[in-house]
Amino acid sequence: MTTSLPSAAAETAATAASLTEARTVVHTAGDPAAEWWRTAVIYQVYPRSFADASGDGIGDLPGITSRLPHLERLGVDAVWLSPFYRSPQHDAGYDVADYRDVDPLFGTLDDFDVMLADAHARGIRVIVDLVPNHTSSEHAWFRAALAAAPGSPERARYVFRDGRGPGGDEPPNNWTSVFGGTAWTRVTEPDGTPGQWYLHLFDTTQPDLDWTNPEVRDEFEQVLRFWLDRGVDGFRVDVAHGMVKEAGLPDWAGTSAMIDGAHEGTTGSEDGSTGAGNRGPMWDQEGVHDIYRSWHRVLAEYDGDRCLVAEAWVEPLSRLARYVRPDEMHQAFNFSFLTTLWDAPALRSVVTASLEANDAVGAPTTWVLSNHDVVRHASRLGLEVPGSKPNGIGAGDPQPDEELGLRRARAATLLMLGLPGSAYLYQGEELGLPEHTALDDDEREDPTWWRSGHTERGRDGCRVPLPWASDAPGLGFSPTGATWLTQPESFARYALDVQEGVEGSTLAMYRTALRLRRELGLGHGSLTWLERFGNPEVLAFENGDVLVVTNLGAETVALPDGYEVLHASVPLGAESGARVPTDVTVWARRR
Ligand code: GLC
Repeated sequence: MTTSLPSAAAETAATAASLTEARTVVHTAGDPAAEWWRTAVIYQVYPRSFADASGDGIGDLPGITSRLPHLERLGVDAVWLSPFYRSPQHDAGYDVADYRDVDPLFGTLDDFDVMLADAHARGIRVIVDLVPNHTSSEHAWFRAALAAAPGSPERARYVFRDGRGPGGDEPPNNWTSVFGGTAWTRVTEPDGTPGQWYLHLFDTTQPDLDWTNPEVRDEFEQVLRFWLDRGVDGFRVDVAHGMVKEAGLPDWAGTSAMIDGAHEGTTGSEDGSTGAGNRGPMWDQEGVHDIYRSWHRVLAEYDGDRCLVAEAWVEPLSRLARYVRPDEMHQAFNFSFLTTLWDAPALRSVVTASLEANDAVGAPTTWVLSNHDVVRHASRLGLEVPGSKPNGIGAGDPQPDEELGLRRARAATLLMLGLPGSAYLYQGEELGLPEHTALDDDEREDPTWWRSGHTERGRDGCRVPLPWASDAPGLGFSPTGATWLTQPESFARYALDVQEGVEGSTLAMYRTALRLRRELGLGHGSLTWLERFGNPEVLAFENGDVLVVTNLGAETVALPDGYEVLHASVPLGAESGARVPTDVTVWARRR
């Protein structure tokens, strides 16, 4: 049998025909007047690395205020701020010592109010981070617990247990910390004798609270009200799947890593699972849902559609959707999407599974590609296994292909922003920033680096201060040029001022995408897969009358006749405008 290659004309005819023939409707359009968070593009500000007004090399709230015009111009609907509360900063602020105050590193409560008012005046909503799984070991409650006796009410706010073995010398169970090492630390009792152990799923300085204790529940409802009264529009809830532990704290043969490393390199499954979750008696216990029901009621007392977004590393997606049932949280980060490899069938199955799982509970689907905990997608997608998820990259590791990574990152972003639902952006991705993969190990601050015995480089490489001006000291991050992590030389090429007004820059691509997304109503739109578009390595769907095509295959593909290109992830010359090259996404519409 011989096979002849189809001519370009035949190929075009085939794809045009397929548009009317085979289609799979996955999601129908929503109500454009529904709550804002159902369709919002939300930009994550990592305060210590966004903009520094004080000159100490660490970003701060006045720095954020000074850069709000950039976010307004970018076209985002909201910002989410990682923690800026009082903290000894052992985990970059995810170790909170006082939930009702701003750390002097970042400014004051007045600075927060000024920032919030300015953001609101620009039409940008503000979501703050809530860290309820653990406090800092410097929180007044934990100090009181250390000073109090075993069995006291002070200790009952945390997870204190007697050790096992002779003299209680062994930890109460075999759990490990997400950052490496044991999840238990033994205290010295006030009388100087070796004492009980406390649980910390993260660093030693982050003792886990006991959420079966009504006092803990009451305290956090008050913390919610404190910030709601100040006018925040919502909360991103840290480790939302970890707050309640299985009764009896049974031993667990697996690791407590939030991501299931065993899935590394898989290309997805029918239910969309990619390894963005792990099981175990510390994760996804039924009791967490009761907490979110009570928080839902607190938020509902306030005007203006305030929202809760879950950081829950839970799979499958149908299990994650239980966090966003109508009386619980409003959104959950879609980490299954984030951890999907650059592979068309895998992306298709995760998109379908995400929409189906969330539609089943009436919640919006979210999309996210980068945040402060993962290697930036411009670098992940330039790895040998594109989209794989190392826990940090060091100078001695295989390096990502920077150019290829950025090309794919732009295609992935335009695919994401073409999907219905809400999307999260991480600061600097609008500049196309890569991960800093050659950071000096001595500079690293992520506890993962030392707790893993220097085997996991951790997250500092995605947290490097932003480049605003290519010629300024510290690339314009701070007036003194100080930066808490050294920026790589390459960042000068990505600085905001270098891209400003440059057609085809990553910045221009993001601005146009956000403007069109809003104008075309893609957030509340629909999703219909177009089958047999020509090639299984091509993702093609319609959202309303917009055709989104991402080509992950080696060959350029043709758009059907009669379509005009609205936007593309790379500049397409006028003559090639009807074709979609490798690693490119195009938005098109019938002429
Ligand atoms: C979340 C945060 C991460 C932090 C951890 C412990 O995963 O995103 O940065 O280290 O919780 O609070």
